[in-house]
Amino acid sequence: MRKKIVAGNWKMNTTVPEGVELAKAVVAKSNEVPADVKLVIATPFTHLYPVAEVVKGTVVSLSAENCADHEKGAYTGEVAANMLASVGCEYTILGHSERRQYYTETDAKLVEKTKLALANGLKVILCVGENLEEREAGKHFDVCESQIKNVLYNFTAEDMKNIVVAYEPVWAIGTGKTATADQAEEIHAFIRKVIADKFGAQVAEDTTILYGGSCKPSNAKELFAQKDIDGGLIGGAALKAEDFIAIAQSY
Ligand code: PGA
Repeated sequence: MRKKIVAGNWKMNTTVPEGVELAKAVVAKSNEVPADVKLVIATPFTHLYPVAEVVKGTVVSLSAENCADHEKGAYTGEVAANMLASVGCEYTILGHSERRQYYTETDAKLVEKTKLALANGLKVILCVGENLEEREAGKHFDVCESQIKNVLYNFTAEDMKNIVVAYEPVWAIGTGKTATADQAEEIHAFIRKVIADKFGAQVAEDTTILYGGSCKPSNAKELFAQKDIDGGLIGGAALKAEDFIAIAQSY
């Protein structure tokens, strides 16, 4: 049985004290969420250490938003996977479209990052998704397929146990435009098939595939009701504990 996950991606928001307060508010309300829904919060690097203290021993898991594509050494400004593990991260997001768009994140780099994350005991939330131009040109299946193949096909069925996929159509991120439940389900089912083609039906069946892009309390229920949507990666709405928890309660 695959896990249901609702993950908050704080992006570059909140100061450390604000982030600690937000994490405390999420922890305080976490008992209002069904026990089979895993809560994850992904914070900026600066916040990980104090937020790890807040979530320690609770049902809330900690994630980074990125990690380096090298193990260690002369890479000024980067943060390595083993550093994230040492601070108490259970997950790291990789390949978010904002990183692909603004920070030259390529699929090749994502292979390296994923290898290092897994080698250091982190679980990976790998983001894929098409931009508006690609969607309008009808290329959304091809784009997602190649992103999945270029990264995940380098890994094993065993590795897949620690990999979550997040489908995030770029045109829906932070725009208020959500993919309809049908649009999202269509791609989720397709992604599961691309995973099955390489790793077999059981691995595909066990892989958690999250939807991200303007997911909010008012639309989460319909999205999460879809057969192949196993939760959400939440940006803006994760910055308010009530909204984040309300989304997780949509199950
Ligand atoms: P959004 O962001 O919920 O603000 O659209 C989602 C994401 O980028 O992970």
